[in-house]
Amino acid sequence: MAMAMASAISLCFVTLFALHSSFFVLTVAATSDNPEFVVELDRSNFTDFVSKLDFLIVSFYTPGCGHCKRLAPEYEKAANILSKHNPPLTLAKVNIFNEANDGLAGSDGTISIKIVREGGKNVQEYKGPLDADGIVEYVKRQYGPASVEINTLEDAQNFISDNKIAIVGIFPQFSGEEFENYTILAKKLRPTEEFFHTSDAKLLPRDKSSVTGPLMRVLKPFDELFVDTQDFDVDSLEKFVQKSIVPTVTIMDGDKNNQRLVDNFMYNSNSKVMLFINFSSEIAASFEYKYRELALLYKGDSLSFLMADIDASLHAIKQYGVKDGQIPFIILLSDKTKYLKSNVEPDELSPWLKRYKNRELEPYIKSEPIPEHNDEPVKVVVAHTFQDIVFKSTKNVLLEFYAPSHKACKQLASVFEDLAIAYRSDPDVIIAKFDIFANDLLHDFEIWTLPTIYFKSADGNISRYTGYATKKDLRDFIEKNRSKAADEHSDLKDEL
Ligand SMILES: *[C@@H]1O[C@H](CO)[C@@H](O)[C@H](O)[C@H]1NC(C)=O
Ligand SMILES: *[C@@H]1O[C@H](CO)[C@@H](O)[C@H](O)[C@H]1NC(C)=O
Ligand SMILES: *[C@@H]1O[C@H](CO)[C@@H](O)[C@H](O)[C@H]1NC(C)=O
Ligand SMILES: *[C@@H]1O[C@H](CO)[C@@H](O)[C@H](O)[C@H]1NC(C)=O
Ligand SMILES: *[C@@H]1O[C@H](CO)[C@@H](O)[C@H](O)[C@H]1NC(C)=O
Repeated sequence: MAMAMASAISLCFVTLFALHSSFFVLTVAATSDNPEFVVELDRSNFTDFVSKLDFLIVSFYTPGCGHCKRLAPEYEKAANILSKHNPPLTLAKVNIFNEANDGLAGSDGTISIKIVREGGKNVQEYKGPLDADGIVEYVKRQYGPASVEINTLEDAQNFISDNKIAIVGIFPQFSGEEFENYTILAKKLRPTEEFFHTSDAKLLPRDKSSVTGPLMRVLKPFDELFVDTQDFDVDSLEKFVQKSIVPTVTIMDGDKNNQRLVDNFMYNSNSKVMLFINFSSEIAASFEYKYRELALLYKGDSLSFLMADIDASLHAIKQYGVKDGQIPFIILLSDKTKYLKSNVEPDELSPWLKRYKNRELEPYIKSEPIPEHNDEPVKVVVAHTFQDIVFKSTKNVLLEFYAPSHKACKQLASVFEDLAIAYRSDPDVIIAKFDIFANDLLHDFEIWTLPTIYFKSADGNISRYTGYATKKDLRDFIEKNRSKAADEHSDLKDEL
């Protein structure tokens, strides 16, 4: 019933996930100079503009989001450089805070960048770097052919590097069904993988034998170094690539060359096992040995393994709410459920994974401690009390999603405090706050920007507050939207 929520993917979930990957961590560059090379589009002109272009990049952003603010100057710089490309390549942006812009180019209302081809008929997710130079290189490659021909030894040396994945189709001639299927795959996966084709396998590194194909080879800087398949069914090719590009153990150590592999690991649909450890410590070597053994053992079980140096993953550690004293620790992510073992020892890895397989582990939820008194006017909601305070109670709840260090949240604090004091003697209204970074949000709320305020009426309606952050406006909103915690609604409790 009314409890059914706005169910677009919680943006916060997306942003938090992105924090894993240092790929998203930008050095903050100087703000851009005028003139603007990035083209602003909205619903009034998007379709018309896009229909005239064979290729463009569109960033769906919101003005308030920190990630978008960091991207903006880099994106502008790249747009400037790409405007001089022959032919000029266009970078555009669409403000999705304006709900009228929902759905353009298949955008689902979350922050994203899209590669838009063929006048808008073909839309792909941008999965490239977010710094200016990286954007330029990536966009040029997306504009060029989906698969690049290797003709000479020099081509091979230029295109295929020792520390990157390269996918090469080997064909006696560049036609026929196998070649067509390979091209379909290259077009589909080009946002993340680099595709090449050749009729001379001897040009390729790592194997000098003279296969003629048709054959698809994945060259990779780890494990077997290259793997081949001759099953040219498009789906089989794709599955083969997805399987081949994730190492037995992905290493996350801040090395840029490993970053693509970390991204492969993150985007892969497998459940994820991640060990966080100090690579400089003495125990690291014995961990690595045991961990690799386990990874090989569980390879067929849809589990992927990553080992991260704590120095290279401070964001992730913060995100999981783990303290210094709990390192080394291991996290397992399965769908949206997390499992944690802190202060793990090498010998405990295997039994712990067995318990996971046997479904004996308790999920881990990052939560601030449940406040003992919670007697301040503004009530504190933590992950462990969210369900009870927000959903199960038959009260009207005005809830602020905030971060204590966030400037706009600090500004709202005194307004919230005053409001809460005004409602102190009203038993049917709770004014509350939820620290979004210190707690897991296990429910689908769209959080665009901080602070975000939601209201749940006593009869269970949930709406986002979009008015001004003044005591009067908030009060009017509560008064208009509140409902009585009547007895006929007590069944709500059982329903949830
Ligand atoms: C699209 O329309 C918006 C205003 O609705 C305007 O700001 C923007 O410059 C227009 N873009 C183009 C390419 O015409
Ligand atoms: C190409 O792919 C299609 C569908 O994905 C498949 O039916 C066909 O058998 C493939 N061709 C070859 C030569 O494998
Ligand atoms: C990692 O271990 C090394 C060697 O024991 C130590 O010097 C360093 O401070 C540790 N790093 C962290 C972040 O704890
Ligand atoms: C909630 O309050 C707002 C603003 O005060 C008002 O516009 C809106 O109609 C109210 N909603 C309901 C369901 O009463
Ligand atoms: C809650 O939602 C129901 C169904 O949409 C509506 O009939 C009811 O008036 C709403 N209550 C409030 C307080 O807005």
